[in-house]
Formats: sequence, C-alpha cells, structure tokens
Amino acid sequence: MTFQRIFALGLLLAISSTLLAAPPGSITDESKVPPYTLPDPLVCQDGTRVTDAKVWREKRRPELLHLFENEMYGKTLVGKPADLKFVVREEKKDARGGKATRLRVGVLFEGKEEGRQMEMLVYIPNDAKGPVPVLFGLSFDGNFTTTDETDIPVPTHWVNGLFEYKTKDHVASEAGRGIHQSLWQYDLALSHGYAVATAGYGEVEPDADGHWKDGPRGLAKEPGPGDWGQIGAWAWAYSRAADYFETNPRIDAKRIGIHGFSRVGKAAVWAGAQDERFAMVVSLESGGGGIALSKRTFGETVENLSHIIRWFCPNFAKYAGKEATLPMDQHELAALIAPRPLLINSAAEDLWSDPKGEFLSGLNATPVYRLLGADGMAIKEWPGTTKLVDGTIGYFMRPGPHNVTLEDWQAMIEFADKHLRK
Ligand code: GCU
Repeated sequence: MTFQRIFALGLLLAISSTLLAAPPGSITDESKVPPYTLPDPLVCQDGTRVTDAKVWREKRRPELLHLFENEMYGKTLVGKPADLKFVVREEKKDARGGKATRLRVGVLFEGKEEGRQMEMLVYIPNDAKGPVPVLFGLSFDGNFTTTDETDIPVPTHWVNGLFEYKTKDHVASEAGRGIHQSLWQYDLALSHGYAVATAGYGEVEPDADGHWKDGPRGLAKEPGPGDWGQIGAWAWAYSRAADYFETNPRIDAKRIGIHGFSRVGKAAVWAGAQDERFAMVVSLESGGGGIALSKRTFGETVENLSHIIRWFCPNFAKYAGKEATLPMDQHELAALIAPRPLLINSAAEDLWSDPKGEFLSGLNATPVYRLLGADGMAIKEWPGTTKLVDGTIGYFMRPGPHNVTLEDWQAMIEFADKHLRK
C-alpha cells in the first residue's frame, strides 16, 4: 500500500465516522465531471427495447435486480424466516401526551429471545378511525436516541455514535437519550395520521468489520463475492418490519412508507427495490452507493465506497475507478421502485452525497415510471429550490449540510399525504 493510499484510507475512515465534507481529490465542482453515458433502463442486455409493462416486469426488472445483486449489494440469501416471531414487550396507551400508543416489539429472527433480533419502537395515533399508513426507518444509534422519553431502555447493541453523540467503543449510554430527536419528527407524522416506527441498524448488524455472523447474514452461509453485504442485511430488516406491520390490525400494511438517511438510506432504497410491499420510499441523502449516480464520479465515488466494501458485495470493488464499466447505474435502482412513489431528499451543502446526481437518478428513472403509467419527475433541470417538487418521483433539496431536519420531514409528510394516503 502506498503512502497516498494509506492516507486516503485514513481520511475515509475519518469521514465515515464523522460525516464531514468531501476529501481532497474528489470532484465537487460540476465543471470537473467527466463525460459519461448512462445505460438506458428500457433496453435489455440483449439489446431489445422494453415497450410495455409486461416485458418490463418479466424481463427487464428481474435482469436489473440481478445486476444490483451480483455487482453491487449482493444477493439476499434469506427471506422471511420460518421461525420469525414478534413479541410485544410493552404497550403504552398514553404516549406522546396521550396522542399515541407506543409499542416495543421484539422482532425475533430465530423465534427466540436469545437469537438474532431487532426491537421496534412503534407509535400509532390514538385518534385513528381505522388502519393507518406507517413510516418506518432504521436509526444509527437505537430507539432511545430518537425520543426523550425516559422509559425506553438504553440498548445493549452496537451503536454508531452519529454527529454529537460521543460513545466509547460504540456502547450506548444514558448520554444518548433523545440526542437525535430532531432527526425523528414523530409528532409531526402522528398529527398527520401516520404511525411511525424505527429500530437500530446496529442491532440488525453492527456497522463494523467481522460481524456477518451476528445478524441476518449469519442465518445463511458465509457470503461469497456476489452475496449480501451489510446494506443487504439492513435492507432485509426493513422487510422484517413489513412482516410485523402485516400482523398489526391498526396498521395498513398496503401503505408502508420507508425512509433512511445516508448509509441507512442506501439500505432503504435497496429494500424498496427488492420488496414491492413498500408503497413509498424516501431517500434522505443516501448519496453514492444509494440514489446518486455512480458514473458522474461527483463526491463519493465507487473507489471511495470500495474502502467500505463490507456494505456491498466484494464484486463491487472491481468498479473502483472504473465506473464507466458498470453495467447499470443508480437511476435503474430508482426504476426498480417504479411505479411506486419515490422521494429524493438532498441537502445543498452535502456535496459528498452529490445532490445533483441524486436528482439525475430520479430524472433518468422517469421513462420507466411513464411506461408504467406514472408521471415520474415533474421537472428536467436540477432545481435550486427548497420547495417540494412533486411527482411520483419527488425531489426536495434544503439548504445546509448532511443531516435530517424538520424540513426533510415536512417534505416527506407533504409527499406522503399526496402519494401514500390516497
Ligand atoms: C460516509 C460514507 C457515506 C455515507 C455516510 C453516512 O460519509 O462515505 O457513503 O452515506 O457516511 O452514512 O452518513
């Protein structure tokens, strides 16, 4: 390893834990983006053009799914486990000032308390007349960081230590209680009639090397070069949350919206591509390896991501510095969500996530949405606006850096009111 490589690696590690701006050398200036060609989502690998929904469903969609499995995220080796069990550990009928019922639900992947699992924190509005739509997302630091309620246990699972949350060795402590409340605008969602739910991604699988056995990937064989990485494991957990929602009569499992921020956003988008039970998908600055185009090489590149290859499958590393050879790009991941509503949220200062590349991904997925009878993205030029651009593919960019804010939630709720509620 050369000195430069070691330096770059160190820098990347620093970035992945502190989420700073782009490191030197990365492209953050639009005029430096090299020419690139995007594959046409409506042309099959054998050259045939997709002209109807049937060919899309039966041929092109499976083909694209396989490309993302084999070349990027790896194949999801386990489906819904036969032993999957849900235990309601607590039900509090007067949470959030009496507005919601709060549930703590153990999702036992192996059907037993001593097995692999995640705990979901679920709030359901008390004034609902019937089953309600739900918004679900995994968090970086566990359920107790998303609310200041004092009776949510401090988790014993691995936590990330996002932003100002300082942990020692990724062990949670009381100091984290409510620390990320602003990223979780539960009351806003509840007041619009949504149930909201979360679980900690680190309980599913710790975001560090050497943990494949500890989460869902441990339910299958050791992953090979085209098998699921950690994004695949976290995406799998989104699907298990859907399994739970299907069992709760107060929730309308036909209206499950999912969201995820940054690396968890990559997982949410991949979950939405694979599992068609998700009726709405929201990318919150999922960036490179998420919704942003790879071939633009703006901000975080495949080369950068290849240093965090545990998130992907080992095959993905062969595209480091060779984005032009990728047989697919992220607009085709967006297309796998079609015709379901997809909201892409960017932050203007978050150049590492390539806001314009996130927009272009939605724009270039639009032909697939149109083929399937939806409108896709309503505009053609990347907007310098902070207003929600509404369409079946929505786009919202707020000022400021990499984060999730009240404005992101307002856009998400506005979008959900139009597309998930109806
Ligand atoms: C790092 C990483 C990104 C990721 C981000 C996050 O910046 O390089 O790919 O999205 O962390 O998860 O916040």
